[in-house]
Amino acid sequence: MKRVAILISGGGSNMVKLVESMTGDHPARPVLVLSNDPEAAGLSRAAALGVPTAAVDHRPFGRDRAGFEAALLEPLEAAASDLICLAGFMRILTPGFVARFQGRMLNIHPSLLPNYPGLDTHARALAAGDAAAGCTVHEVTTELDGGPILGQARVPVLPGDTPETLAARVLKAEHRLYPAVLRRAASGDRTRLDLPASP
Ligand code: GRF
Repeated sequence: MKRVAILISGGGSNMVKLVESMTGDHPARPVLVLSNDPEAAGLSRAAALGVPTAAVDHRPFGRDRAGFEAALLEPLEAAASDLICLAGFMRILTPGFVARFQGRMLNIHPSLLPNYPGLDTHARALAAGDAAAGCTVHEVTTELDGGPILGQARVPVLPGDTPETLAARVLKAEHRLYPAVLRRAASGDRTRLDLPASP
């Protein structure tokens, strides 16, 4: 049984879907939900689902990323996680931390990578006049929002879309994509999954 740690910074809607998916014959179980913000709403949602939680506030560390990450390692190692899922985790990790988990750390990004790495993905897709948008689950490497793509889900861009309406449509696709990719990855299958457009 693979042990999965999920890192969040906010509401944790993706975390909830991942936790809820790991039941029955699923080859993984959630062992920790960890946040860089002790006030993250996702922490209470994880606790309500019976998942152990921890928080390491990044603010006292200032620019000392290595110090923050050393503190982050403690609960991660205590949980003996095999796989790490970044889910709405908004801190950039150093190459040292990434190298430690290379091949065992996934992230979900709200664009069709390689398009729009970084922030404000929906506004950028709208400004470009794209007909489609979506989300990507990828292995985390030292290249921000780079790494091997494990899955994508596409959504249409509709007339009158705002970044908010598009974000909401993409988030629903994230909630379908991430659990499906995690299940594959946890069973050792790294073939790319392209989800059909949602019904
Ligand atoms: C959302 O913008 C999502 O697209 C991205 O992280 C943000 C928060 O997600 N993956 P969550 O609700 O905390 O999972």
